[in-house]
Amino acid sequence: MKKVGNHNSTSRKMFFSLALMLTFSLTSIAQVAVPAPAAEVPVATQGGDPVKGKELFNSNCAACHKLDAKSTGPALRGISGKHDMPWLYKWIHNSADLIKSGDAAAVKVFEANNKVPMTAFPALSEGDIDNIIAYTSEPKAEAPAAAVGGTVAGAPQEGGISNAVILGALALVMAMLVVMLFLVNNVLRKVAKANGIEVAPKEPTMPIWKAFAKNQFLVLVTTIFLMLAGAYFVYGFLMQVGVDQDYEPIQPIHYSHKIHAGDNEINCKYCHSAARVSKNAGIPSLNVCMNCHKNIAEVAESTATPEYSKAFYDEQIQKLYTAVGWDKSTQSYTGKSQPVKWVRIHNLPDFVYFNHSQHVTVAGIECQTCHGPVETYEIQKQFAPLTMGWCINCHRKTEVKMKGNEYYDKIHEELSKKYGVDKLTAAQMGGLECGKCHY
Ligand code: HEC
Ligand code: HEC
Ligand code: HEC
Ligand code: HEC
Ligand code: HEC
Ligand code: HEC
Repeated sequence: MKKVGNHNSTSRKMFFSLALMLTFSLTSIAQVAVPAPAAEVPVATQGGDPVKGKELFNSNCAACHKLDAKSTGPALRGISGKHDMPWLYKWIHNSADLIKSGDAAAVKVFEANNKVPMTAFPALSEGDIDNIIAYTSEPKAEAPAAAVGGTVAGAPQEGGISNAVILGALALVMAMLVVMLFLVNNVLRKVAKANGIEVAPKEPTMPIWKAFAKNQFLVLVTTIFLMLAGAYFVYGFLMQVGVDQDYEPIQPIHYSHKIHAGDNEINCKYCHSAARVSKNAGIPSLNVCMNCHKNIAEVAESTATPEYSKAFYDEQIQKLYTAVGWDKSTQSYTGKSQPVKWVRIHNLPDFVYFNHSQHVTVAGIECQTCHGPVETYEIQKQFAPLTMGWCINCHRKTEVKMKGNEYYDKIHEELSKKYGVDKLTAAQMGGLECGKCHY
């Protein structure tokens, strides 16, 4: 009897600690889902106007800051309790200067945020900043519109707790439940034994899956777990929608970059000449094709592959002739032409500004960096994801070519002084500013 009692108390302890852990993990999940209530927000020291402040905040800061959640920059509600006003003036006017001056608080904030530079706002007066700080000092309940900033600042990779963490926590809870059941079962058996109750002996060779299938609770738990995991992957899949990486449409004429840019080494810019000087790289007009194809009516025997025969390729060239109205037997134009409707592959949304000449001529980036090994593509496709993260990542890590570019000499000198470095990335030149890429 005594023995059983002992067992009981240990298992009771375990039970309690498990229950504690359970409640703890559940509340921690709940806490992330519902933002913690803003505790005691300090009142602005300078008595600025929160209404004007909100306007200023939304137009200047909301791109990177939210009031109650981390965005590109930290949450700003109650910031006046963390720093005094003179520090805030200096920081907002030019945070990089303050960091460089070695100010301990500034360096700490900078490093805590992965050294993402904040825009300088030399044009904001101290009165303006007072207003903004007054707005950030409003208690949460009175500022339900705090979410305004949220819609703009949706830099997708940030914000909120990741699903993986939630799933992990759930898996842990499930695992604990299983362990708990096991323990309870053990204790019950021992109690039964001590009381002299017959427990049917364990069937010796019950396969584990059978035991599993018999245990309805386990089956239920597993089903729930699998459903959650499934939902997670479906969600992940849906997040890919709208990203057209590897898009490879069938074109009206089977035009092979491999044969032209690869085997025949025709320079990309011979056909996409606009890439050097303008926003768009452009698709060449059929006249450009005819510079060569007046004389090339068919491909060499050796060009054919098991997949594409010579006849197939010759037919494609004939399509070109039909489109421009070229009669190869008389070697003259018939005057009957029809445009070729190439299917557009790369297509950024209208609200994004991308300029080829900026990247190809000014930055000297190879076409292949963004478009992949085009000279090996039998069929053209989209190589890069063309997401915002893709642009930003490259701006963070690519150094700007300064050498032999007079335009940069002066600005380079100033900026490298500002950042205290020799080489500058596109990001430090302002390549992370929303307005550079968004109209
Ligand atoms: C381009 C994005 C960006 C914009 C726009 C921006 N910030 Fe920041 N801010 C940051 C980042 C990033 C940090 C974190 C420090 C760092 O890495 O430099 C920060 C830090 C701060 C801090 C210090 C926070 C702390 O926890 O100590 C304050 C205060 C601040 N910003 C105020 C403002 C105000 C006010 C505006 C609008 C006038 C503004 N910021 C606009 C990105 C931005
Ligand atoms: C002989 C002319 C020619 C040359 C040389 C050429 N292209 Fe093209 N390119 C075309 C034509 C025609 C299309 C449209 C048909 C297609 O998509 O396959 C095209 C399409 C493309 C597209 C996809 C456009 C879209 O719709 O988004 C990219 C990217 C591209 N070319 C890159 C290159 C690169 C990089 C090179 C050099 C390695 C190159 N091209 C060389 C003629 C050429
Ligand atoms: C600089 C010269 C040149 C230009 C410009 C050129 N081609 Fe070609 N093209 C060639 C050569 C060379 C071949 C391959 C001949 C061979 O393999 O024997 C070829 C082959 C082809 C073929 C058959 C193989 C394939 O890719 O399917 C087609 C179709 C074709 N060209 C279409 C075009 C079109 C459309 C344009 C304009 C956008 C164009 N070419 C511009 C030189 C050129
Ligand atoms: C920094 C990355 C980058 C580089 C380098 C680059 N492109 Fe592009 N390219 C893009 C993006 C992004 C688009 C989509 C543009 C859009 O939808 O407005 C694009 C679109 C195109 C298109 C489709 C037509 C158009 O103008 O929108 C062609 C053709 C093209 N690129 C060819 C080239 C060639 C040829 C080179 C090299 C001379 C080159 N690109 C270099 C990123 C790049
Ligand atoms: C392969 C690297 C790379 C990729 C990918 C890239 N960029 Fe850039 N981008 C650069 C570099 C380097 C510069 C700096 C050019 C310079 O001014 O010397 C730059 C400059 C710019 C500028 C001018 C910034 C300024 O300060 O004036 C804009 C706008 C821009 N990129 C937009 C985009 C967009 C939009 C995308 C994605 C669709 C993109 N870039 C993808 C490397 C890249
Ligand atoms: C280097 C260029 C670049 C910069 C800088 C940039 N963006 Fe973007 N942004 C893009 C591109 C490209 C897309 C389109 C992505 C797509 O279609 O998947 C985009 C899309 C977006 C979207 C729409 C997201 C969606 O899922 O449709 C928002 C919102 C946005 N950006 C906000 C911002 C804000 C806020 C900033 C400043 C902190 C910013 N962007 C800076 C290139 C940039």
